[in-house]
Amino acid sequence: MNHKSLVIFFSRPDENYNVGDTKVGNTEILAKNLAEYLSADTFAIVPQEKYPADYQSCVEKATEEKDADARPAYIGEVENFDDYDTIFLGYPIWWGDLPMIVYTFLENHDFSGKTVIPFNTHEGSGNAGTFEALKAKLSTANVIGNGFNISGIKAREEEGKEKITSWAKELGY
Ligand SMILES: Cc1cc2nc3c(=O)[nH]c(=O)nc-3n(C[C@H](O)[C@H](O)[C@H](O)COP(=O)(O)O)c2cc1C
Repeated sequence: MNHKSLVIFFSRPDENYNVGDTKVGNTEILAKNLAEYLSADTFAIVPQEKYPADYQSCVEKATEEKDADARPAYIGEVENFDDYDTIFLGYPIWWGDLPMIVYTFLENHDFSGKTVIPFNTHEGSGNAGTFEALKAKLSTANVIGNGFNISGIKAREEEGKEKITSWAKELGY
């Protein structure tokens, strides 16, 4: 079957747990490797208000957003979202959940009938129940349960590239 796939991701550069100060976030590296393998388009969810560069301040900001169930705004929009039948959705785990800005994106789009394939990076929490959360949230889409997750530090290495491409291959992409 021919798929028209789009890789959507949120990822934050700068200081992070286990990886120090980075120019490109862990999930972004993984997402770009996946998109290259798939020859797919990408869309980065970029916050209108940049997250703090230092890890501790970012953690505090993310806590505030989660406590408030906030929907932070992002920049730009996917062109021709309706044309894609398959959405690979990448994100870091923040407080055992999707970052709130990813919910903003999900709620702004109609995923009906699309296949949604989640992947994430973390530093210990695995997928943290987010694959199930996505299934509940996007009830009119086909969210697959066997998404991909890897630690942020490994996502940056060759191993991350190999693992995500073999996972996509196993799924038939
Ligand atoms: C605000 C914040 C909250 C986080 N919460 C968790 C968590 O609950 N569980 C976990 O395993 N990792 C957590 N992490 C670590 C990130 O999931 C991990 O560093 C991820 O690879 C970051 O991806 P990115 O560089 O693409 O943003 C958190 C990181 C931040 C900045």
